[in-house]
Amino acid sequence: MLKVAVLVSGGGTNLQAILDAMDSGKITNAKVSVVISNNKNAYALERAKKHGIEALCISPKDFEDRAAFNQAFLEKLNSYQVDLVVLAGFLVVLPEAMIKQYRNRIINIHPSLIPSFCGKGYYGLAVHEGALARGVKVTGATVHFVDEGTDTGPIILQKAVAVEQGDTPEVLQRRVMEQAEWLILPQAIDMIANGKISVCDGQVIVNE
Ligand code: GRF
Repeated sequence: MLKVAVLVSGGGTNLQAILDAMDSGKITNAKVSVVISNNKNAYALERAKKHGIEALCISPKDFEDRAAFNQAFLEKLNSYQVDLVVLAGFLVVLPEAMIKQYRNRIINIHPSLIPSFCGKGYYGLAVHEGALARGVKVTGATVHFVDEGTDTGPIILQKAVAVEQGDTPEVLQRRVMEQAEWLILPQAIDMIANGKISVCDGQVIVNE
């Protein structure tokens, strides 16, 4: 049974998609052990509690400096002894020590087709504003392993979504969530939980 920690900062619709997929059997051999947020008001924490999952908040604001937060954050995560860490809209930079310790065991959902519209500054609506400003006809979402860069780790899954005439950033964001994010993040977790993913020379290999 794959033990999963989900890190969140906002509304938690991706967390909800994971929980619903586990309930419906779309994800097998996995369970969410803990949900951790840096934002005590994140509705994602409510979603976790409603589902009977331990939910806690740990924020850099509660520590005298970043090094103290990084140490406490890693110790707290380690206490749950999870196999996989899922970033579902988590807006805090991970401690380098965490990325090293959980090499190829941290995944992130990004709301574009990496390498487009990603990297520093591209999060939330800014991603969709960039896509609309460039005039792309197709965008989408990407699930990737997290490394020391920003949105630079090995790509696991991607799903394309059409940009439509007159789209606003908000409308496009919602379509990318509904038609891509909420599908490929649970799918990636199920593939990992069932041993279908490996990484070789920085490339993801899907073992059928
Ligand atoms: C999603 O758009 C995701 O792509 C991005 O952050 C947002 C999180 O939304 N990484 P939610 O909290 O899952 O609703």
